[in-house]
Amino acid sequence: MSENTPLVAVIMGSKSDWDVMRQADETLTKFGIPHECRVLSAHRTPAQTAEYVAGAEGRGMEVIIAAAGGAAHLAGVCAAHTVLPVLGVPMESAALKGLDSLLSTVQMPAGIPVGTLAIGPAGARNAALLAIAILANSRPELREKLRQFRAEQSAKVLSETLP
Ligand code: RP5
Repeated sequence: MSENTPLVAVIMGSKSDWDVMRQADETLTKFGIPHECRVLSAHRTPAQTAEYVAGAEGRGMEVIIAAAGGAAHLAGVCAAHTVLPVLGVPMESAALKGLDSLLSTVQMPAGIPVGTLAIGPAGARNAALLAIAILANSRPELREKLRQFRAEQSAKVLSETLP
């Protein structure tokens, strides 16, 4: 498998999710993780979503990040079509501020797990970091990068001064 084989799929239900999900893309890029970002919807492109997710493992992917808003069944549908870990990111919705997305994503019946992150940008970034932590289980150099990231984050907090 080539060095550039995508290891993580970042799927979102609509192009309107990209402004938030670009933060997952940026985090994965910062850590040098080959990945691909796609708009695929559980209800608008159901067949293509199932086909893409079912083929992900065979293409060498190891983690799927799925973001959706409203009646957010994308992550659950993805999880139904693969045994790869699926991380769900609830998008903030206009009507219910993402509480609808959160509950739709997190409340999976037993048997088909979805690891659900926070609503919105924090969830997007943490989904990428969690995907990296999963990949780091078998990649010591990546684990070292994660440790370095945490150390830099701590140093930044400790260097902050209040007005
Ligand atoms: C979901 O519906 C998408 O994930 C998005 O968060 C939400 C709204 O989609 P658009 O109507 O903006 O395309 O499927």
